[in-house]
Amino acid sequence: MKIIRTVSEMQNLAFSFILENKTVGFVPTMGFFHEGHVALMKQAKKENDIVITSIFVNPLQFGPSEDYEQYPRDEEQDIMNAKDVGVDILFIPQTQDMYPNKMVISMDIKDRVNVLCGKTRPGHFQGVVTVLSKLFLIVQPTRTYFGRKDAQQVAVVDALIKDLNFPVELVTLPTIREKDGLAKSSRNVNLREDERVDAPWIYKALEYGRQVVVDGEKNPAIVVKEVLDTIDNHTNGKIDYVELLSYPELKPVSTVDQQVILAAAVFFEGARLIDNLLFDRSGEIVKHI
Ligand code: PAF
Repeated sequence: MKIIRTVSEMQNLAFSFILENKTVGFVPTMGFFHEGHVALMKQAKKENDIVITSIFVNPLQFGPSEDYEQYPRDEEQDIMNAKDVGVDILFIPQTQDMYPNKMVISMDIKDRVNVLCGKTRPGHFQGVVTVLSKLFLIVQPTRTYFGRKDAQQVAVVDALIKDLNFPVELVTLPTIREKDGLAKSSRNVNLREDERVDAPWIYKALEYGRQVVVDGEKNPAIVVKEVLDTIDNHTNGKIDYVELLSYPELKPVSTVDQQVILAAAVFFEGARLIDNLLFDRSGEIVKHI
């Protein structure tokens, strides 16, 4: 495995892969790999000649009061894991190289961001699409891999690729969970012991909400209330949101009669956790988006 730390070296190599007609699978990450990341890298490995993973904790997507400094980092361990999975190139750029000057261009996102996490994280998705546009232009991937745990991010990246004609195919994989249902996340390590006990209730509550739909309930407000009450009754976390929206458009629906996302975010002292389920009008989990 080759480790590349400069933008220019990465971009030159990317151009050489295009000339050699090699397909490139790209897994952009902020590091501190868990099984979710590993699953993305393994899938990329199956489908491409070359696998490139990036590690870059992107300051642009963190708000001033968010956890940029506390975001967990372990480069040495990540390097070992990436090597084990068979990643060909690990791209670890420096902030100074990615953002040498204050950006003159900013990307305005008109839709899909004023709901869910976008509501309480102003500028977050602007930071995400900015760094991803840069990374796509540096890495020149054939396919890019994202976990559906960050379903709003997937919806925004889907729009980014289509709106700007990035010649890259978006591949998404299902959320990987702990045995007790908690969605794997780099932030889980920051949970207190008692919070870690409460945390799986986010998933259990969403599953309960989905079951209510399976049982015939079509009113989103009733489904959302069931989820809110379940989280409230079983955790000491502060609920940021529970929402049920069309997917990937992320619009309010008056009845569950299409593909939807049922999503929740909960503040614990140690970390803010998110989770979601994507399902169709009968409550059947969606496997491909
Ligand atoms: O999902 C993430 O880890 C980040 O948002 C991403 C896609 C790597 C962009 O910084």
